Amino acid sequence: MKIMRSLNRHGARVEICKDLAEASHQAAELFTATAREAVATHGRCSIALSGGSTPEALYSLLAAEPFLGSIPWTAMHFFWSDERCVSPGDPQSNYRMAREALLRHVPVPEDHIHRMRGEDDPAAAAVAYAELLTRFFGGTATRFDLLLLGMGDDGHTASLFPHSPALADSDHLVAAPFVEKFGTHRLTLTFRALNASARIMFIVCGAAKAPSLLKVFESGGDDADSLPAARVKPANGELVWIVDEAAAKLIPEN
Ligand code: 6PG
Repeated sequence: MKIMRSLNRHGARVEICKDLAEASHQAAELFTATAREAVATHGRCSIALSGGSTPEALYSLLAAEPFLGSIPWTAMHFFWSDERCVSPGDPQSNYRMAREALLRHVPVPEDHIHRMRGEDDPAAAAVAYAELLTRFFGGTATRFDLLLLGMGDDGHTASLFPHSPALADSDHLVAAPFVEKFGTHRLTLTFRALNASARIMFIVCGAAKAPSLLKVFESGGDDADSLPAARVKPANGELVWIVDEAAAKLIPEN
């Protein structure tokens, strides 16, 4: 156990670890437990991966012992929370990062890897991914066994950025918003898809995240238009924040 202190905020479990390495190790333990539990109970495990840089250390940990030999890889299905509108081989691709750090090192069947097609027309790719999710989950809610998320310094999560029209989209599972700050489209699961998950695990590290993390835990989701990460609340599931001391430095002890 790598937890230095635990908190409870608005029903979420917050595990504070010393640094990124220990947070990644804690996340790997929860990832492994979730995978084993899901496969034992319903024969498969569906995981939606986050992008960005923070989870790369976690993905590398999972590709090595002791995690490599503990996870039922052949029963795992991998999805993404969001993707950049680039080709799968582009250095910016979330899929590429996960493949290089994890998927090429583990025996996950190729047809269990369900990437968002960032190289296609964004609107068409969003429709296609929503159809893929609907087929996979048999027309019921997109109930990932585990959804991994990060949070930007500005409080965005997945590719749901502050004040984006995608925040209000409750009709679709996947959106293709134009992101002003990058001058490009992104593909992203909507809150409708995110909040249907059985377990959501944020991994947030670094001092730059501290102001937004404090606001998330203080707001309880009230000002979600400016703080999308605060609106992640599984309707019928568990929410865990695994953070490091630097990101948690503004959060009061109790
Ligand atoms: C992405 C991610 C995004 C990420 C945050 C944090 O595509 O960039 O899905 O939501 O989790 O931006 O990114 P870092 O881990 O790099 O700080």
